[in-house]
Amino acid sequence: MKITSAEFLISNTNIDKCPPPIMPEYAFIGRSNVGKSSLINMLTDRVSLAKTSVKPGKTQLINHFLINKNWYLVDLPGYGYAEVPKVLREQWEKFIRHYLLKRTNLMCVFVLIDIRHEAQKVDTEFMKWLGENEIPFVIVFTKKDKLSKTVFAANSERYKQAILKYWEELPTLFFTSATTKTGQIELLDFIENTNKLFVKK
Ligand code: GTP
Ligand code: MG
Repeated sequence: MKITSAEFLISNTNIDKCPPPIMPEYAFIGRSNVGKSSLINMLTDRVSLAKTSVKPGKTQLINHFLINKNWYLVDLPGYGYAEVPKVLREQWEKFIRHYLLKRTNLMCVFVLIDIRHEAQKVDTEFMKWLGENEIPFVIVFTKKDKLSKTVFAANSERYKQAILKYWEELPTLFFTSATTKTGQIELLDFIENTNKLFVKK
């Protein structure tokens, strides 16, 4: 799929104020600083469509982007960032979970994982919650460029084994780098195919 247009629509914490659920939607979620906003820019070939930062906790709202005038990408705040006050973190968690449960046009959640790190409980617990609530998801590993081939192979194998402790089968996995654009074609192909399954409710 070629990206012909990408525009920011709206930011909010209230699903009633999100754009009408008339087009297929994909949400990016994961720990703070994992590279959600960077991946949105990489996929859409835009330098700063989504705001990125070296400091975790940059994205704090549900941000909708309209792509090719016929599907939505959603940038969400990261979870598991300790330096954000607990009350605020709980508030984010609440509206994110509400959004994920209620958004009728949500086709798939992209759970982003930094390929440099071992499996972490917040991520595996979150995937478990998605599974329990029958919310489709895939795993998108980020920052592949930061690892040598050997370490990359070892880390991805270790992560797969960790997932298989909780799940009978591996979910669909993507390996990406916002710096080298690795995985761009694969993710856009996936979205293109999934868009075809969208049924307007
Ligand atoms: P929050 O909005 O705070 O939750 O963070 P985020 O997940 O949106 O992360 P963001 O895209 O802002 O990226 C965080 C930092 O990681 C930035 O300094 C990015 O430049 C860097 N980064 C993101 N993706 C990659 C990647 O694939 N490779 C490398 N080398 N750096 C990356
Ligand atoms: Mg962000």
